[in-house]
Amino acid sequence: MIAKISFVAILSLLHILPTSLVLYAKATSRGRDTLELSIGIGSGSGSGGSSKDCGDELLGNTDQSQCSQEKIPLLGPIIQAPLLSPVVQAPIVQGLLNFIDQRLALLRYLYELDLSNNKLSGPFPTVVLGMTDLIFLDLRFNSFSGAVPAQIFTRDLYVLFLNNNAFDQTLPDNLGNTHVLYLTLANNKFTGPIPRSIAGAPSTLTEVLFLNNRFSGCLPYEIGLLDETVVLDAGNNQLTGPLPLSLFCLEKVEQLNLGGNLFYGMVPEPICWLGLNRNLVNLSLSDNYFQHVGPWCRALIEKGILNVRNNCIPDLPFQRPVADCARFFAQPRPCPRMWSYSYVPCRNAHLESLVPGIAPSP
Ligand SMILES: *[C@@H]1O[C@H](CO)[C@@H](O)[C@H](O)[C@H]1NC(C)=O
Repeated sequence: MIAKISFVAILSLLHILPTSLVLYAKATSRGRDTLELSIGIGSGSGSGGSSKDCGDELLGNTDQSQCSQEKIPLLGPIIQAPLLSPVVQAPIVQGLLNFIDQRLALLRYLYELDLSNNKLSGPFPTVVLGMTDLIFLDLRFNSFSGAVPAQIFTRDLYVLFLNNNAFDQTLPDNLGNTHVLYLTLANNKFTGPIPRSIAGAPSTLTEVLFLNNRFSGCLPYEIGLLDETVVLDAGNNQLTGPLPLSLFCLEKVEQLNLGGNLFYGMVPEPICWLGLNRNLVNLSLSDNYFQHVGPWCRALIEKGILNVRNNCIPDLPFQRPVADCARFFAQPRPCPRMWSYSYVPCRNAHLESLVPGIAPSP
């Protein structure tokens, strides 16, 4: 009851304060069985320095109590002073979701909701779909399961952290409508293919983290259209097929991890070219079933940029036993749209010399 009274008080306060509101629900440092819900309000147009930005370590299980709450670079320091802290101490973590009832969705100026690093379980908290001004939603490091509602990808969220939960659906076709800067689906139980609609993602998408899920099927060439992406990590899934030549179009990529999948064929030389002439500093293809690497890729292995351990490349060390490779190749693993694997959806003056006979598309 006390919780509700405080909450109503805040609601009425908000009616007279046209400011931004950030809601943090964190397990406190005192123990994971107690939740401290603090609500801060402040000017959304504040300026000034920022200290440690914990959003940088997307997958690091950072102790958020050590983090500055100034986590939104676009808006500066959101929280200038905690208004009432703690507002409520719920006896159990799950009780929080009951507390965040429909009335929370009515809050104007609620821009950021951070429920990360708690012990929340159950379905995606659909109440957030009603929070029309939300731009930052952090659900990392909980035990949410089931499906992420497709509508969330059409919202104007620029931060949507979903990693380290137990979400287990196939990705919706509107994934590419997202506005997020980081697509953090890592460490869940997502299944099915990576949708071709990813091509529609805006150029602000700089990190794409699919690792440690159950994605399957072949990589769509459209993944090569993420031309601002700096980190692309789809490691440890069940993806198969050859690598699309379109990966060559990821001119800004620095970390490209496709290790721990079922990829086969030849590692396309133009992808290795990125490591010799562009920004790629880590190309991880270990634990797949690749059979061939050309001279550019061998140069990358020499430089320690390309890792092809535990594949099926006959003349390289640390490869799979021949019998394992034979067993893998006994089963056909065709991909649809085979033409698309040699399709290059970008223009690059070097391409003609790298891959004679392959012209960039119009
Ligand atoms: C390269 O990426 C792989 C996979 O993400 C990672 O395990 C490895 O530590 C990285 N290597 C370097 C030198 O950063």
